Order: sequence, then structure tokens, then C-alpha cells
Amino acid sequence: MKKVRKAVIPVAGLGTRFLPATKALPKEMLTIVDKPVVQYAVDEALEAGIEHIVFVTGRNKAVIEDYFDLQPELVGTLERAGKTKQIELLEDLMPVAGSVSFTRQQAPLGLGHAVWCARDIVGDEPFAVLLPDMVSFGKTGCLAETMELYGVTGGNVLAVEQCHPSDTAKYGIVGRGADVVPGFEITGMVEKPAPAEAPSNYYINGRYILQPEIFELLGRHERGAGNEIQITDAMEHLLKQQPFYARPFTGRMFDCGSKSGFIEANVAFALAREDIRDSVFEPIREMVGLRRAEQAA
Ligand code: G1P
Repeated sequence: MKKVRKAVIPVAGLGTRFLPATKALPKEMLTIVDKPVVQYAVDEALEAGIEHIVFVTGRNKAVIEDYFDLQPELVGTLERAGKTKQIELLEDLMPVAGSVSFTRQQAPLGLGHAVWCARDIVGDEPFAVLLPDMVSFGKTGCLAETMELYGVTGGNVLAVEQCHPSDTAKYGIVGRGADVVPGFEITGMVEKPAPAEAPSNYYINGRYILQPEIFELLGRHERGAGNEIQITDAMEHLLKQQPFYARPFTGRMFDCGSKSGFIEANVAFALAREDIRDSVFEPIREMVGLRRAEQAA
């Protein structure tokens, strides 16, 4: 079984759900506590053993590339001020030289098209995809868990979670087949089905391990839901030639593309951080208490 060395992180989306913040700032640079959303995806990929990250960017996203580069002026200022902790923090987050690539999706033709844009850099090997809007929260990152199942099954593996049956039209939904501990075989995939058409309530939560044959299928540029080139449709085609497995995530994914998910993620990560946990907990508790009292009145 071939090792998964590369991960594709699509960051070309416009972030219209976060206007006006995203008018000039890429949504992937919004912060959860003190780290940009995209850093969480990179940390999760590295934890899972990924060696090279391919960002699929778009216009107005240049600041993401700057973020993964050295900032000599800033480092110089920190050095003169003796702020060694901050220097170490920046050094720890700096990717190894040559381990990050950037390619552009020139037009917003869909997630499948964005992933296809990475085909030459990925080449002929299995690879991971992480949708950075979906931020993994748990003891082990979602991709590391997904990789565990890949180590058993090979093939294609998707991370899934269960959604409320009335929410299937928000996601890609998979059909559940035989158990393959700690997951199951996928029998089919549909992008954003109405609840009556959904094969289950297991939704694809934004972590994929895919075989390179997907690129040929994505290259057909067939349009699907929302008139976009959908990765789910290409995977459904690939399922006719190769097995797909699902790994239910044991942690929790926050949808940071939505306002409420983003705020929830900030609270969850803040409460998980020893340095600020206590100072944020009390005011949150007070606010919750006030809100409860208002509701009861
Ligand atoms: C994309 C995928 C969908 C998946 C979802 C997870 O949809 O197409 O299959 O369930 O991400 O967030 P989008 O959120 O881009 O509409």
C-alpha cells in the first residue's frame, strides 16, 4: 500500500458567508483564538504524517502564501525586544522549505475542479484532501484517524459524521455497507440529496484519502449539484472501479464556514487552552446565566 505523503488544501473560496470580514481578508485567515483557520488544517495534516501540502488558491489569497513564509522584519523586531517565546512560536509553525506548494484555481468552478488543479503537483500517488472550513476538534485529528483506517484497507477513505436526517441537503452523503472496523464500506455517494433521497445520514465531513485515478474523472469536468464540478460525483464514478471506506470521526468537526460554527469553535478551543481557559470561562458562564434568566422571564 502506497503511503499518503501529500495533502491538498483548497483555499480559493470567496467566503461570502463572512462578509464584510472577507471582503479583503481570506476566510481561511480568520482566527480561532490566535491561529488562522488554515493553520489548524496544516497542523492536522502534519499530525497525520503528511509531508507536502498543496494549496489551491485564488485571487486575493496572496496573504496565505505570505503567512507560510518568513517575516524577517517581524523576527528582527522580536529579537531586539528579547521576545524569544514569540520567535520560537513562529519557528515552530514555519513549514520545512520546499514542503508547501501553491497553485491557482482561476475560476470558481467547484470543489472537484479545485482538487483537479493540484493534479500535476500530486502526481501518481494517493493523497489527502482537507477542507479547511471544517476544523477538527478532538484528542486525535480527523485526518490521523482516517489514515488509520487507510492503513488497514488501502483504497479510498472518507471521514464521516452523522447529521440530523433533515440536514442531508447541506452535505455529501454516503451509503453504509458492511462494517470494516473502525468504519464501513461505502456503497454510494450523493452530493446534497434531499432527505427522502439520502442513502443514510452519514455525511462527508471534509477529510478524504483518494487514489490518483480520481484526477482523470475530475478532468471530464462534468457539472453536478449547484452546476459545479463536484468531487462527490467523481468519487461516485470511481466507486465503480475501486473500493471506498468511511471512518466515523470520534471527535467533533466545527463548520467554520458558518458564523455559529466559527463562534462555537472559538469557545471550544479557548476552553481547551490552559493559558486562557479560566479567564474566558467565567464571563461565558455569566452570559449564559443572563441569557437563561432572560428566556425564563
Ligand atoms: C463540500 C462537499 C460536501 C461535504 C462538505 C463538507 O460541500 O462538496 O460533499 O459534505 O464540503 O463541509 P460545501 O460545504 O463546499 O458546499
